[in-house]
Formats: sequence, C-alpha cells, structure tokens
Amino acid sequence: MSDVNKPMPERGDTPDFAKPGSLLHWLDKRLPLVETWNEHVGQYYAPKNFNFWYFFGSLALLVLVNQFVTGIWLTMSYKPSAAEAFNSIEYIMRDVDWGWLIRYMHSTGASAFFIVVYLHMFRGLLYGSYKQPRELVWIIGMLIFLVLMGEAFMGYLLPWGQMSYWGAQVIISLFGAIPFVGPDLAVWIRGDYVISDATLNRFFALHVIALPLVLLILVFLHIVALHRVGSNNPDGVDIKKVKGPDGTPLDGIPFHPYYSVKDSVGAVAFAFLFALVIFYFPEGGGFFLEPPNFEPANPLKTPEHIAPVWYFTPFYAILRAIPDKFLGVMAMGGAIGVLFLLPWLDRCPVRSIRYRGLSFKILLTVFTVSFIALGYLGTQPATPTLTRLAQLFTLGYFSFFILLPFTSAREKCKPVPTRVTYHG
Ligand code: HEM
Repeated sequence: MSDVNKPMPERGDTPDFAKPGSLLHWLDKRLPLVETWNEHVGQYYAPKNFNFWYFFGSLALLVLVNQFVTGIWLTMSYKPSAAEAFNSIEYIMRDVDWGWLIRYMHSTGASAFFIVVYLHMFRGLLYGSYKQPRELVWIIGMLIFLVLMGEAFMGYLLPWGQMSYWGAQVIISLFGAIPFVGPDLAVWIRGDYVISDATLNRFFALHVIALPLVLLILVFLHIVALHRVGSNNPDGVDIKKVKGPDGTPLDGIPFHPYYSVKDSVGAVAFAFLFALVIFYFPEGGGFFLEPPNFEPANPLKTPEHIAPVWYFTPFYAILRAIPDKFLGVMAMGGAIGVLFLLPWLDRCPVRSIRYRGLSFKILLTVFTVSFIALGYLGTQPATPTLTRLAQLFTLGYFSFFILLPFTSAREKCKPVPTRVTYHG
C-alpha cells in the first residue's frame, strides 16, 4: 500500500516506530516511553493562542542546558582553591581551546537565565498563571527562583576576583544582622571568620553539584505539575471546559509538532541574540561581568563601590533603602517571600489582564516601574537623594502586594469569553 492511501493515524495509535519487533517496542514493554511521550508531548493539548510571552519557559530550559554543558566543561580546567582560582580562569580564557567561548557562554548565560526567568514570571503576572489551579506551579517556580539566586551567588565567588570576594563578604555579613544566631550563622556559612579558601571550596561543591541537582528536580516537578492542570493562556480561559467529540479541547493543539516547531523559532531567535552578546558585548557594559572582577581578590583592598550583579540589584536596593540593617534584611527577604503568597493575595477570579479592571493594571504598572527603578538604583552608589528614591520605589513594590487583596476583591472586570481569541 502506498503512503498516500495509508489511513491517518488516530489519537492514541501506537507510532510506527514502536511496532512489535522494533527496539522501541522492546524498550516500551519495560519503560513507559510511548505513554510518557504522548502524555507530555505528542498528546499534550496546549491552548492554540500562545503568544510571544510563552517562549520564555522553553527558553529557560534551553539556558539551563547551556549552563549545565558549559559548566561541565569549565569544571575540567577550573581550580577551586584561593591560590589558583583566579589564574585558572585566566588560563581558561587564554590557553584552553575555545575556553573563552565556553566561559562567556556560562557567565553571559547566567544573565540570560535571569532575563528569561524574569520575563517568564512577568508573563505569569500578566495572565494570572499563578491562580487556581496553578498555585503549585507558581510555588515550585518560586522555589526554582530562590535556588537560582543561590546558584548564581555561589558561582560568582568562583573566579575569585575583587567583586566575587567583596560581594560575597557583604551578602554573607547580612546574616550577621539576624539577632542572637546571626554572627555564628555567618561564620558557619563561610566556614571561617572571613571569606577564605574554605568558603570557596564549599561554594564550589554547592554550585557544581548540590544546587544544580535541586534545580533539575524542581524544574521536572514544575513541568509535571503544569501538565497535571494544563497550561494557562493569554485569555486566561480554561480550554478543558469546551471539548470536541473525541474528548480533546477544541481550543487546544498537540504540543508536538505545533509548539515544538514554534518554540524552535524562539530558540533560534534567542540563540542569535545570545551569540551577538557573547561575541561583541560579553561583559554587558560591566553589568554581566563587573570591571573589578578582572582583578584578583584582595582582602586588604575594598573596591570603591560594591554592587551585586544586575539581577540582584532590585532586592539589594530594598536592603539599602532601610536604614536599620536587620529591618533591611527582613524587607529584602520579604520582597522575595511575598511573591510566594501571590496566588492567595489576588482574589479576583479573572486571570488575564485583558479582562481585568483598571485597579490591577495600575498596581501592576507601579510594581513593574518600581522593580526596574530599584534595579537601576541598586547599581548606583547610595547618595541621600538616591536612597530617598529607593525608599519611594520600595513602597511602590510592596504596595502591589498590600493593596491587591482589597482592590482585587471588588475589581470591575470585563466579561471573559468562553473560547480563546485567536487570530491565525
Ligand atoms: C529554570 C527556571 C524555569 C524553567 C526551566 C521553567 C520552565 C517552564 C516551562 C517549560 C513552562 C511551560 C511553558 C510556558 O508556559 O512558558 C513553564 C510554565 C510556568 N512557569 Fe516556569 N520555569 C522556570 C521558572 C519559573 C519561575 C521562577 C516561575 C515563577 C515564580 C515560574 C512560573 C511558571 C508558571 C506560573 C507557569 C505556567 C504558565 C501558564 O500556563 O501560563 N517558572 N515553566
């Protein structure tokens, strides 16, 4: 029979390559390969109206793989000791074949990770993806965010440059501000009274093994939890409510081939921009790799202006905005912690911003502007005027979470359609 006359495969058919006698068939008898593929890819029905914002989940996966692969290669030539770390990075940059490329892919990859993850989180805010029934997807996402921050912080100590050293010094000393246990806690984290070889060794162990493992497990759970409830979409409509005679959502399309192909387009566009930065702009104007980090760590010489990498600066600015050190630490922790509560702070049943009321749009704008402004202020030296501004934007940041429970309960929303809006 020619291929033209062959009947179209039906939903749930065993793929040709898994027919009896094939290797896959043998494997599938022993491992649920076809079933898993169908559940999560081949017959995972995703809403057909995904837009640009839905690229960032798969891009985060891509950057994760990039970090793993380049990280493994860097580890082959890196020396985790205070005496050798800085020089081993120079060796990678100058003498290891393609070492400069691998190093830049990893260091710029860290910034790319945060750009992608911040946009991914912002999409969640726009379309209410954190709301019922996706609260757990959001919570696991927040845990990923926490681990990612730990991973980036520990990775930054490894080149043993001036900013690695002093950045870690400032952040770890914050733990010292916690009443009673603080000073002992800071010594416990460092493994010494100052940042030293012992600190570098344990940060290396955590950065290359422990946290990546946790990250991998969390990302796996994130996707399994999402597939349990199904993806949200730019209309915030539940596509499972309208099903066709075959039981599949009328507004859904199988992830493969539709979104596997669409996401590949996003991946190519991302790879192009990423390559542009790596080849022409690898230090990101001092934002991705800070100038003092091209000098070896010197415990006797404090850099003139210590600032963390850009992705930490919104939270760092909140810390500095509060005059009392302990309260500053609490506010910084609270700024991250309160995001965990978002699914319960927002009481409006409507998910997507397309149908939400003015109050939410205003609050989200204030929050976004405050976050970006704090990010900028965190990179600047703390003058009295800039500190006042940081206080104002800290208020803007927290007002989103404080006011939302009240405004969202009585928000005037537009009617939500029963089907997704899609203009193909
Ligand atoms: C390593 C980091 C992360 C990876 C690899 C990752 C991966 C993904 C993927 C592949 C999806 C499905 C595709 C999509 O909807 O874009 C997704 C959805 C989602 N992620 Fe993440 N994610 C990460 C971090 C986060 C963080 C930090 C949050 C928020 C705190 C988050 C919240 C969500 C939510 C709410 C959804 C469902 C979105 C929807 O259905 O509209 N994720 N994630």
